[in-house]
Amino acid sequence: MPADVKSLIQEGAELTDHALESLIPSASTVPASIHGAMRHSVFAGGKRLRPVLAMQAGVTIAGILPPGIARLGAALEMLHTYSLIHDDLPALDNDDLRRGKPTCHKAFGEAIAILAGDALQTRAFEVLAGLDSPPAATVQIIGLIANAVGTVEGMIGGQVLDIESEHLKPTPELVDSIHRAKTGALIRVSVVSGGVYAGATAEDVARLDRFGRKAGLAFQIADDVLDVTADSATLGKTAGKDLTTEKATWPAVYGIEQSLRDAAQLIDEAFAALEPYGSRADGLKGVARYLVERKN
Ligand code: IPE
Ligand code: IPE
Ligand code: MG
Ligand code: MG
Ligand code: MG
Repeated sequence: MPADVKSLIQEGAELTDHALESLIPSASTVPASIHGAMRHSVFAGGKRLRPVLAMQAGVTIAGILPPGIARLGAALEMLHTYSLIHDDLPALDNDDLRRGKPTCHKAFGEAIAILAGDALQTRAFEVLAGLDSPPAATVQIIGLIANAVGTVEGMIGGQVLDIESEHLKPTPELVDSIHRAKTGALIRVSVVSGGVYAGATAEDVARLDRFGRKAGLAFQIADDVLDVTADSATLGKTAGKDLTTEKATWPAVYGIEQSLRDAAQLIDEAFAALEPYGSRADGLKGVARYLVERKN
């Protein structure tokens, strides 16, 4: 990864961690078990890519990092972490390892893990309601994010399709709809909400949406490829799970080589939507390239 992209991801992750630290109740706040569980999963070492995408979308629109955008990033990361805690539950993917640590339910039990996911979701919306953006932009952001996490072409709907498609023969249409929803929607809305926070017009929103859709799909294709090609220590989660659970994945339909080509091509196509922004979109493009070239 180019040094400048590496440093902007690192700086964005640090800003996000700092915001999360102040926004999530301390581990001693009563009831302590749930705050300990929320912190266990949030501070286990995630890449913070959704916050970084929001920040770079903000830079693309405003030309500078908009003040206060780290709290938007923190809310996106809370929602993402909630989705991971629930994704790992025995009733869903039944995973023991996440971000290099025991999954939330392994460390705190299923009841607290379910509630920690719920709590991260509600806290995220509370944080969004208090953003520094103009009220109309804040309401727009809340609506867009709630929709992207929801059941119709959103994260939860995608998780339903993912679970119900286990052991079925995957088709191109099925994998496309699962991936766009379960992962693509939150990536897309990270980009779009970062733009709205920075004052995006309707035209900007449409461009960022086009970019985010392609980048979001590419991200999940890369996740599927890494599940096959990387090891658990590198991933911080159990490698090879998708094959044993017969998940509907991109490699299951197209093979590894084609999947890699598709992910790279989607990123190239995504870049076209950012052309009007010139070099202001360089950071966003660099992060998008990393979404598919990452090793974990
Ligand atoms: C993993 O997301 C789960 C998917 C949505 C595919 P990330 O690869 O962004 O995981 P973290 O946040 O770095 O742990
Ligand atoms: C997870 O997809 C998507 C969400 C958490 C919404 P995966 O099940 O492929 O994610 P990993 O591989 O467990 O991180
Ligand atoms: Mg899953
Ligand atoms: Mg999983
Ligand atoms: Mg996966």
